[in-house]
Amino acid sequence: MESKVRLVVLASGGGTNLQALIDAIDAGSLDCVIAAVISDRGDAFALTRAHKAGITAHHLPVITAEPRHSYDTRLADLVAEYTCDLVVLAGWMRLLSMKFLGRFPERVLNIHPALPTELPGINAIERAWEQYLSGERDRSGVMIHLVPDEGVDDGPVLASVEVPILDSDDLCSFQARMHAAEHTLLPATIARYRPPRGSLP
Ligand code: GAR
Repeated sequence: MESKVRLVVLASGGGTNLQALIDAIDAGSLDCVIAAVISDRGDAFALTRAHKAGITAHHLPVITAEPRHSYDTRLADLVAEYTCDLVVLAGWMRLLSMKFLGRFPERVLNIHPALPTELPGINAIERAWEQYLSGERDRSGVMIHLVPDEGVDDGPVLASVEVPILDSDDLCSFQARMHAAEHTLLPATIARYRPPRGSLP
């Protein structure tokens, strides 16, 4: 019998996407185990969600004035302790350098609330809404992509889904449908993705 795909989830915020993974595993639709959750922020609710689900959770703070490559090496060392198959960036809001990414080739996945090539960076949902209000768009979407290098919210796309903006929408209802799309697409994409054979390191 094949062993379960082991995930390490990196999350900086509320962790609703982490929760979607926990729920999909509990429901039997995602045959994975979350080996650990790591956050750069001590107040990230994602850490609380991990604790509640009985998952090992780490707060790995940035040390004042620490160079990015030093943090990324410490982060990679911590992730490597879990011998995981995939690293899932689920609302991870720090740019990762090759010091980290080079350690986990083809194994780092990111979720971003926009369609491929559109709206990289933070607050993508709010920026899509602003563009809708000014008549520049009538839809946005969600994508899951591999993170091969330091490009922001960019890399080979594994899955994407459009989310139309309805005449009846306000920002709140649009945000809710975007998040619902994320919470479906992320576990479904991970369930399909075949990482390279063998765990790292
Ligand atoms: C999600 O909308 C995710 O797509 C986004 O952060 C949010 C995290 O929510 N990620 C990015 O914008 C990456 N550039 P969560 O903490 O509730 O999962």
